[in-house]
Amino acid sequence: MSTAPSFDSHASRAERYDQLDLQCPGLLDELDPVANQANFSALLHAAFAWHWVGFYRVSGDALVLGPFQGPVACTRLRRGKGVCAAAWERNAVVRVADVDAFPGHVACSALSRSEIVLPVRHPDGTVGAVLDIDSTAVGEFTEEDERRLMRILDRHASRFLSPNS
Ligand code: SME
Repeated sequence: MSTAPSFDSHASRAERYDQLDLQCPGLLDELDPVANQANFSALLHAAFAWHWVGFYRVSGDALVLGPFQGPVACTRLRRGKGVCAAAWERNAVVRVADVDAFPGHVACSALSRSEIVLPVRHPDGTVGAVLDIDSTAVGEFTEEDERRLMRILDRHASRFLSPNS
């Protein structure tokens, strides 16, 4: 494992992503996907201080809570309801500027005001997990977040998933 991540408090968003890009290969130098999901959640939380950062894992017909940083969360999310399920079913990033405007949003924390959910894909393109990030600010997540986070997830997808999960 690499040394503990550090982020310059004056760093811009782009610079924080640059630091993440540098730290991820060392941090994810581990074969166990739960360990990697846990450390990556902690790294993102340290980098941006977002309200909730974590993974939901595809398990049969539901998404089941995985490693995360933040307040306690819903353990099981069903198809057809909420932002995480939408990202899973569409196999696409879903960015919600205002959760109140998203029909069926699952409010695990009343403090969450906006969110982004990104698919983590197996080599065959199917979704094995989603990365869910919530903010207490409306409109927190930008196209830059979508692009930079998706690039990290695509690059390291095999480190976040079991081959058969
Ligand atoms: N926001 C998610 C539910 C999970 S929590 O936010 C941690 C959703 O609507 O799917």
